[in-house]
Amino acid sequence: MNIQIIAIPKIEERRGNLSVIENDTVPFDIKRVYYLYDVPSGAERGGHAHKNLQQFLVALSGSFDVVLNDGKEEKIVTLNKPYEGLLINSGIWRELQNFSSGSVCLVVASEVYIEDDYIRDFDQFKNYSTRK
Ligand code: TYD
Repeated sequence: MNIQIIAIPKIEERRGNLSVIENDTVPFDIKRVYYLYDVPSGAERGGHAHKNLQQFLVALSGSFDVVLNDGKEEKIVTLNKPYEGLLINSGIWRELQNFSSGSVCLVVASEVYIEDDYIRDFDQFKNYSTRK
């Protein structure tokens, strides 16, 4: 599956840790950053694929599961470290679930927000992925 765990450089000090995401941390030019927070217990996010957009997800705090499907296989990745992230390439269905209390999901994206880039219907996604 076209996903990858990428380590984020970490600067450890007695004063605490610092991690930095720069353009060369991810294999795309960063166009947008957003974050999910105050996710109620049991809620799910995502539930879509992107035609072009690539994303890099980081659990800044707490943990959550990312359920991935490329039309052929399903994989579940648990994110729970602020110093590593999950690269999701385009054409992959993702659902985010099992958010721990107080968790924060940072999303670094290769594109600005374009609703037309989303595939929000799973059957449509299956057709889209078999055509590729
Ligand atoms: P969505 O991408 O569906 O959220 P998630 O995948 O985390 O469940 O977006 C939720 C809503 O927020 C939707 O109405 C579109 C809007 N939105 C923006 O306006 N700008 C953005 O950059 C993003 C990511 C979402």
